[in-house]
Amino acid sequence: MIKVDISNVWGQLSLPDLLAIEGEIAAAHETLAKGTGEGNDFLGWLKLPVEKETPEMLRIRAAAEHIRQNSDVFVVVGIGGSYLGPRAAIELMQGCNHNIGKGKGNPQIFFAGNGLSTRGWNELMRLLEGKDFSLAVISKSGTTTEPAIAFRGLKWMLERKYGTDGAKKRIYAITDPCKGALRQMATEEGWETFVIPPDAGGRYSVLTAVGLLPMAVAGIDIRKVMAGAYEAKQTYDNLRSLENPVWLYTGIRNLLYRSGKCIEILESFEPGFKMMGGWWQQLFGESEGKDGKGIFPVTAEFTADLHSLGQMIQQGERNIFETMIRFDAPQQKMVIGSDAKNLDGLNYLSGKTLDFVDEKAFLGTLAAHVDGGVPVITMDMGELNDEKLGEMFYFFELCCGVSAYILGVNPFNQPGVEFYKRNMFQLLGKPGYEV
Ligand code: PA5
Repeated sequence: MIKVDISNVWGQLSLPDLLAIEGEIAAAHETLAKGTGEGNDFLGWLKLPVEKETPEMLRIRAAAEHIRQNSDVFVVVGIGGSYLGPRAAIELMQGCNHNIGKGKGNPQIFFAGNGLSTRGWNELMRLLEGKDFSLAVISKSGTTTEPAIAFRGLKWMLERKYGTDGAKKRIYAITDPCKGALRQMATEEGWETFVIPPDAGGRYSVLTAVGLLPMAVAGIDIRKVMAGAYEAKQTYDNLRSLENPVWLYTGIRNLLYRSGKCIEILESFEPGFKMMGGWWQQLFGESEGKDGKGIFPVTAEFTADLHSLGQMIQQGERNIFETMIRFDAPQQKMVIGSDAKNLDGLNYLSGKTLDFVDEKAFLGTLAAHVDGGVPVITMDMGELNDEKLGEMFYFFELCCGVSAYILGVNPFNQPGVEFYKRNMFQLLGKPGYEV
């Protein structure tokens, strides 16, 4: 079980505060579990963790194996909830530089269609030069502009390279089972497809083919990911008390918000966690930021960002709280050597491991920030493995649903996202959006 430690928020809150909100947490959890709250037509993600491998998962693994054997590169086209989860998973498990040295048998994985940068597109073109590639186009609505443009370009490239029939065998569409332009295209063109259930919103879709196909292509064992998510569901859905880390986290963050802490920084000392922070940021940002409410979610990488954001956290406006993520240290160690001249003055650390220094940096940072008046929640994730990945995804999704209901907002819509789209479509002259 993920361990949530709230002992470093007690300077700002007290146990009676937490006990006073316990009823609200229980009610929010019940609303979610019984499906009686706003947005209850989007609770399909609660049913995604399964004990036994489904036919869809089997098909995902078969497709992934095929892609691994016939592609140097696999391009994942999507944005928002159709992009962040798979990238988060792959970077957390394999590091930010996971593509280096990869090729057929274990393809490189690039992400496209998550922006409109021509420089980004040109870079992808360079990376694909002379490479065999396949792609997954992921869009629940099937009409999102950014991935649609990237997909059109990549499909054209595939058709030029492999012919129309060859291209068809290299395109995988992940979308709604019935609706939308992508579903229609896939049906007409005969691409292999996977389903985003209509009742699971984009940011809650990582445990569908959206996350599972790219993970499987990267060589992550999706059966273990699912086993971790299933175990998490059994544990966190059923424990209805403050012993549940979901209750502790959601209760404390809502109490902190009420006391004026309106920014949460999710931090890890693992560089590979950065995109996981991005996934969490979207999950909580889109779910809670509405009706003039919401904690602004920010993510940071320590110790790197202690040399950029550290000053602000330590002494800036006191409207921040932090959630620090910790994992068990890996088996393979780096031991600091000794140096005869010791010009860098580091001999006091010779023989010590990098983990030892990292642990002290964590403890030192924690103490400094608490002294500076910043409440810090710590989360001990335990060992980082495929099961843990699944557990973390489900854990944070559940936390988000419960937290949003405590806040009193619908966790499953995102009406605000449409505003920029409407303006952009008007400026682009899209039919139906004339001023
Ligand atoms: O969480 C969400 O619903 C959004 O972030 C969507 O995933 C994102 O806008 C992409 O939408 P679609 O999958 O329809 O292309």
